[in-house]
Amino acid sequence: MVQLTLPKNSKIGKGKVFKTAAKSNNVRTFKIYRYDPSDGSKPRWDSYDVDLNECGPMILDALFKIKNEIDPTLAFRRSCREGVCGSCAMNIGGRNTLACTRSIEDATELAGNTIAISPLPHMPVVRDLVPDLSQFYAQYASIEPWLHTTEAEPQGKPMGEAEFKQGIEDREKLDGYYECILCASCSTSCPSYWWNGDRYLGPAALLQAYRWLVDSRDEATDARLDELEDPFKLYRCHTIMNCANVCPKGLNPAKAIAEVKKMMVERA
Ligand code: SF4
Ligand code: FES
Repeated sequence: MVQLTLPKNSKIGKGKVFKTAAKSNNVRTFKIYRYDPSDGSKPRWDSYDVDLNECGPMILDALFKIKNEIDPTLAFRRSCREGVCGSCAMNIGGRNTLACTRSIEDATELAGNTIAISPLPHMPVVRDLVPDLSQFYAQYASIEPWLHTTEAEPQGKPMGEAEFKQGIEDREKLDGYYECILCASCSTSCPSYWWNGDRYLGPAALLQAYRWLVDSRDEATDARLDELEDPFKLYRCHTIMNCANVCPKGLNPAKAIAEVKKMMVERA
């Protein structure tokens, strides 16, 4: 019989509880995943009470409130605060989303008065709510997300600023794809990506791949399809649809993947 030995830090340790003297009845408890792989301690869930009368409306506001006033050791990523940079993606009340655009009210509706917040699932953790996205970005880079063309660069403007023009109809084909902010909510909500994340490119990278496949200015369609023609890179999508359910920008990576598969069939 196979004997499995779990690493020492695979069990959840005892978390700390930060009770605040709330000035109102409008209090929410945030149960936050805490883990610092560098100090050898086990992961744990710490709980923080936040008086919502003294806090902004979004989950990111609550995280700032906790970090600035209760526990400065909490680590999380953020930048734009506007749903544009994708850096604050995390799992909130059991659902991957952006902390800056998810309201505390909506999270309460989903999770109740105690809102659990953890890093994006099935990724190595750098610390607390910060996942290691190295593999995710490497997969994005592997689809070569830039224009491949042999056409001479358009003239008339300083080098690098001229545009390769595109008709309105061709430009519209990019709608629903170019808006992706690479937050990784979709890929890390996909069971197929959890199981084969090292070989399956995942919803985000495949949506980006399709964005370049349908770009009328790109001349590398065949080479791009050749790269994707692989039992793991593309065909591990089993239309589970978690990607479309969680995308905070309302995109549908599963549809993009289906379109890539269709292109494969058509060229065959
Ligand atoms: S498709 Fe949506 S969920 Fe996936 S990375 Fe792009 S913006 Fe994030
Ligand atoms: S902070 Fe940029 S998307 Fe949330």
